[in-house]
Amino acid sequence: KITPLLLCGGSGTRLWPLSRKSYPKQFVPLLGETTLFQSTAQRLSGKGFNQPLVVTNTAFRFIVVEQLATAGIDPSAIMIEPEGRNTAPAILASALWLSRNDPDTLMLVAPSDHVVPDTQAFHEAVKAGVPAARDGQLVTFGITPDRPETGYGYLELAKKPKNDKPEAIGLKRFVEKPDEAAAKKMLASGEYLWNAGIFLFSVKTILEAFEKHMPAMIGPVTESLDQGECDLGFLRLAPGPWSGAADESIDYAVMEKADNLSVVPYSGGWSDLGGWDAVWRDGEQDESGVSTSGQATAIDCENTLLRSEDETLEVVGIGLKNVITVAMPDAVLVADASRAQDVKKAVNALKKKN
Ligand code: GDD
Ligand code: MG
Repeated sequence: KITPLLLCGGSGTRLWPLSRKSYPKQFVPLLGETTLFQSTAQRLSGKGFNQPLVVTNTAFRFIVVEQLATAGIDPSAIMIEPEGRNTAPAILASALWLSRNDPDTLMLVAPSDHVVPDTQAFHEAVKAGVPAARDGQLVTFGITPDRPETGYGYLELAKKPKNDKPEAIGLKRFVEKPDEAAAKKMLASGEYLWNAGIFLFSVKTILEAFEKHMPAMIGPVTESLDQGECDLGFLRLAPGPWSGAADESIDYAVMEKADNLSVVPYSGGWSDLGGWDAVWRDGEQDESGVSTSGQATAIDCENTLLRSEDETLEVVGIGLKNVITVAMPDAVLVADASRAQDVKKAVNALKKKN
């Protein structure tokens, strides 16, 4: 069986002002009624899956409990990080914990802020990755790129995929978040897929990879787990040793360096809603490219996203073109659509100010 590892400690600054430090995007009903976190937990439940392991931080622990209960999901454990130190320590702590509790399980690492509309296609892709994962591979899932996105990892295929059935293919290399020139080259070559940020591997394989590529992280994370406490159903990692683990993503810490990588090409639809441009692109729009949500009215607008995030807040746009507007009772974003990725700069600027 496969144990889902739901990562939900990120703060999602590019979807400000809806996504906040205290309530990031994975917990907000962005498209429809369930939150992205709930949909992820539901997608990775049922036949073939163990109960999920959730890794989050103190601030989100009650949101996690409440949202899992509403979604009808019973986690195997909720691990609490003293502070977010990116995905590598979170994944390592989970692998160490599983090595003590269920060493033969495969781990499916899943970001909790992605949209994956076709559950069946996704399950088929996961199944296709199982033999390679059992065989000691770090299995990634690859999306056909359609733009030179610099916010993703790129996967260089060792050979062309066959189109009939999903299968795991060897990788030549993994390039995390390239600059724009490199991204353009990789897109044009047709030999790369985007890394979906979802990984499948055995507990043993990922622990060996950490030993090889990030040995310094193992000591502090092991100690943090050993000195951790279980209370009220939470598994709290100890803060002292935890702060000794490097703040690094799994992509830079392990994937870029590993040579036992495979990819299952995936075409069942995927979006990481990495900014308002993606919410607009992947959500519903009318024929002029206008997408409204909540109490928002667009008059003679084009290619515009207009959202009111409060029932009592009327938002009206007139004659707008390529504009993103997101209104909350205490904050309003108005941005040129091409600058959606710069919203994180706004968040940093506000942080400095306050
Ligand atoms: N528990 C925990 N602790 N979770 C975290 C932490 C942390 O410190 N930091 C991030 N996460 C969670 C986020 O909430 C998200 O669900 C997931 O881990 C991935 O982190 P992101 O910060 O969103 O990564 P990214 O989008 O920049 O890049 C990754 O995903 C891309 C696809 O969306 C990489 O894997 C890229 O290669 C990939 O293309
Ligand atoms: Mg992301």
